[in-house]
Amino acid sequence: MKVLGISGSMRKNGNTAILVKKIVEYIKEEGCSEFETEYLSLSGLKIGACLGCEKCKETKWCVQKDDWNKVAEKIVECDVLIIGSPTYFYDVNGHTKNLIDRTYSLYHDRKLAGKNAVVISVCADRGCERTLSTLEGFVNTHGFSSLGFISGRGFKEGDILRDTHAIAKCEDIGEKVLKLVSNTHRGTRK
Ligand SMILES: Cc1cc2nc3c(=O)[nH]c(=O)nc-3n(C[C@H](O)[C@H](O)[C@H](O)COP(=O)(O)O)c2cc1C
Repeated sequence: MKVLGISGSMRKNGNTAILVKKIVEYIKEEGCSEFETEYLSLSGLKIGACLGCEKCKETKWCVQKDDWNKVAEKIVECDVLIIGSPTYFYDVNGHTKNLIDRTYSLYHDRKLAGKNAVVISVCADRGCERTLSTLEGFVNTHGFSSLGFISGRGFKEGDILRDTHAIAKCEDIGEKVLKLVSNTHRGTRK
């Protein structure tokens, strides 16, 4: 069972990264040997916007050459995607949207259908709901099954650690992911 956590924030150690990493680390610590975990930050990666060229309808993969390709390969390979975004003007940030838009190329032959997803948004004050809606629109359209969501509050890097509800929910979500593997296997948890 491959679990991939992605933070779409350009802050490598920001609030979104903290929440996504907390879930991934929980699964790594508590999960049995069947779980393989990976965490990825979009910070520093070059992910251009979808050009709307529609070439992917033929190729079934985005024709642009940048870092999107390696992220997309990991998404295609995972069983559980945990994706988080900071809120910028009441919605996901640009990098996260670029990543999402270009998965249009994976939609034509439903490459992501049947996987599981957790969506996470962080905002300082307002707009988290629309960020969640955008992320849910992404996973629902592709046919992921939802394992839940987290909506956290924080402004400066690390502020999220004071959002006790969001922090506690990381463990709850982690448990939900662990339950994907049958109880028999859970006896072998580390
Ligand atoms: C360009 C920009 C736009 C933002 N827009 C909003 C917003 O609409 N609502 C809000 O509550 N916070 C907004 N914020 C604050 C961020 O959502 C907040 O700092 C968040 O914790 C960033 O998450 P990160 O540390 O994972 O990057 C904005 C920040 C930036 C830089």
